[in-house]
Amino acid sequence: MNVFEKDNEYVAHTYKRFPVVLEEGSGSVVYDEKGKRYIDLGTGIAVNTFGYSDKEWAAAVSDQAMKLSHTSNLYYHGPCADLAEMLCKRTGFKKVFFSNSGAEANECAIKAARKYAAEKKGPDCFKIITLENSFHGRTITTLAATGQEKFHKLFTPLTEGFTSVKAGDGKALTDLVEQGDVAAIMIELIQGEGGVMPLDKSFVDLIANICREKDILLICDEVQTGNGRTGALYCYMNYGIKPDIVTTAKGLAGGLPLGATMLGDKVEDIFGYGDHGSTFGANPIACRGAISILERLTDSLFESVKEKEKLIRDSLKGAKGIKGVYGAGLMLGVDVECGGAALAGNLLEKGVLALTAKDRLRLLPALNIPEDLLKEALDIIKETAAELSEVKS
Ligand SMILES: Cc1ncc(COP(=O)(O)O)c(C=O)c1O
Repeated sequence: MNVFEKDNEYVAHTYKRFPVVLEEGSGSVVYDEKGKRYIDLGTGIAVNTFGYSDKEWAAAVSDQAMKLSHTSNLYYHGPCADLAEMLCKRTGFKKVFFSNSGAEANECAIKAARKYAAEKKGPDCFKIITLENSFHGRTITTLAATGQEKFHKLFTPLTEGFTSVKAGDGKALTDLVEQGDVAAIMIELIQGEGGVMPLDKSFVDLIANICREKDILLICDEVQTGNGRTGALYCYMNYGIKPDIVTTAKGLAGGLPLGATMLGDKVEDIFGYGDHGSTFGANPIACRGAISILERLTDSLFESVKEKEKLIRDSLKGAKGIKGVYGAGLMLGVDVECGGAALAGNLLEKGVLALTAKDRLRLLPALNIPEDLLKEALDIIKETAAELSEVKS
């Protein structure tokens, strides 16, 4: 059996995969099993922060693999403590809980919010407000937080206590808060899976003010927007707000599974022994990978991320078949006449890997993608979007 046949036979059919078997990559270039070259603008959905098998990252994780590959959380180890210190010092958060994925990072945030509200306001105060069109993960509780019905059906009943309001609808939000018993408001500052939709600053300010005034916890889900992706270490920094809890995963460990829930002043001591845990959380190899990534997330890198954002926007502006570019840094959604899915499929054939989000083409390239490769890929995107828009008209 070839890889397609074997995968089809033995792997659960949860993913609609592109018809390509990737074999080997370096930086922003990856090759399939037949040796065809692709420029990668997807980074495994914002995971490979510095591309495939980045040398510095690979050296750090291989070194750790040869030293101490895993230990239970019953013992201390350096990479966990060092990484938590780095994250806290760079953000002002006070404590970190490590897990293995975005959904788990969000589960931890939800548990922290429920415990905080129960202790401060009583056991009935457990509601969490999220936004329509959001995406917070695939567990039963993070699905409940996800404000998109299409993910819910067939899996009900979901965890109770979640209600979503339309992004930008301040009145609906205020009305819900006035009904009482709200423990937290949970948002993505740029809705990634929802189509790369940034929230308006005024709406985010309103949420931050409500949370402060009512002692409601503000949780920012930075699973996709975090770790330099938007041209700041975390996207909340672009908005000038200070959430109580920030969750992240994806690009944090540059290609290894690691989730982090960062806890601010109000909740730094919310968890006691036995309240939460994870066998694989804070795995030493994943933590070393994350340390090597964070060391390179510097101000000058953020500047270059913003320059590359400008390059993309300038290059695509006014191009045939392209209607607009949304998002921030290197998390961009491109509105195209032909639809994102058709474009992504055609790009694959021409050697460019890109993603979709709703009907947009989604670009999440490595933060260090060389300019010449980016330009080469943009030329192919423009050429293909123009061809497809002609076919359509
Ligand atoms: C904003 C956001 N939150 C949570 C998740 C879930 O992360 P994971 O797939 O690592 O569980 C994702 C994944 O796409 C995401 O984009």
